[in-house]
Amino acid sequence: ASDMLIDSFGRLHTYLRISLTERCNLRCQYCMPADGVELTPSPKLLSQTEIVRLAKLFVSSGVDKIRLTGGEPTVRKDIEDICLNLSNLNGLKTLAITTNGITLARKLPKLKECGLTALNISLDTLVPSKFEFMTRRKGHQRVMESINTAIELGYNPVKVNCVVMRGFNDDEICDFVELTRDKLINIRFIEFMPFDGNVWNVKKLVPYSEMLDTVVKRFTGLKRLKDHPTDTAKNFRVDEHVGIVSFITSMTEHFCAGCNRLRLLADGNFKVCLFGPSEVSLRDPLRDGADDHELREIIGSAVKRKKASHAGMFDIAKTANRPMIHIGG
Ligand code: GTP
Ligand code: 5AD
Ligand code: SF4
Repeated sequence: ASDMLIDSFGRLHTYLRISLTERCNLRCQYCMPADGVELTPSPKLLSQTEIVRLAKLFVSSGVDKIRLTGGEPTVRKDIEDICLNLSNLNGLKTLAITTNGITLARKLPKLKECGLTALNISLDTLVPSKFEFMTRRKGHQRVMESINTAIELGYNPVKVNCVVMRGFNDDEICDFVELTRDKLINIRFIEFMPFDGNVWNVKKLVPYSEMLDTVVKRFTGLKRLKDHPTDTAKNFRVDEHVGIVSFITSMTEHFCAGCNRLRLLADGNFKVCLFGPSEVSLRDPLRDGADDHELREIIGSAVKRKKASHAGMFDIAKTANRPMIHIGG
């Protein structure tokens, strides 16, 4: 791997998250401000050619995992071609997507053929009326179908992302864990994080320690699994359950020391930390004719400026960032 991907703390960044669009077919309260977001005019968004050019540069420098995010990545019309082009990059081992699953069941067979290797699907509640409240849209049944289709197509494990919010879905934690008894899924409980416009409040955050207590009380055979140092999730399994239960503890026990993630946003901005407000455009130099060497310099110096960790939940809640829908998580 080239020096470009190593930061001043020695962390090697081999995981690139690419946001394909700022649009979404849902309106989740924790992600999109109630009055919507300003959309970048389309000429300023990266084209497929530009995405592939930049991805190729990253992969040739040592990135071996790309995750497509959004907005909702599947609303992009050229999603299949993008997957095909990215999965053919020499050196890429994992091509993943994080999706809300609304239209996935229909699209998945084709996406699998185009080289999509891993799937994370967001689902915050098992109750359809609560789904409509949180997402401001219908579609609970379709997400459930997508999860089942993904399992049938052999994705293993299908990861299910559940953002836990006090008073909304904290009473469903054990119901989600129950799903892992017979389903080959990995349920991931995520601490609610602050982003611009999502009215974050510490009272709505259910800390990892509390979620874990809730699970342990009901499921006595809960065992911690070994996890990878770069993983966002702490993984567990209930004895005899086929699936996995995890916690993503960004707020109460951040995992920044093992961070290997970089982000390319739909507008071509490059972001070295989810909670680091600083961004640098790769689109502008690219359009001005920069060659690979020049782009590598820009990327490398941004990576070198990356902080050791985020500033702590109260500070990041006060710092201007972007709405989640622009960053893609
Ligand atoms: P895997 O590649 O399957 O491990 O998924 P992931 O956890 O990297 O990505 P996913 O899109 O499924 O995100 C799950 C949750 O982790 C979301 O709430 C993300 O915002 C959060 N997350 C992802 N990457 C980071 C990160 O670098 N820092 C922090 N603090 N949270 C992250
Ligand atoms: N806090 C934690 N996770 C969030 N996600 C979206 N907004 C938030 C938030 N405020 C999750 C989505 C998706 C992933 C990319 O990030 O549910 O699964
Ligand atoms: Fe990496 Fe920043 Fe996330 Fe920490 S908050 S894990 S440094 S992206």
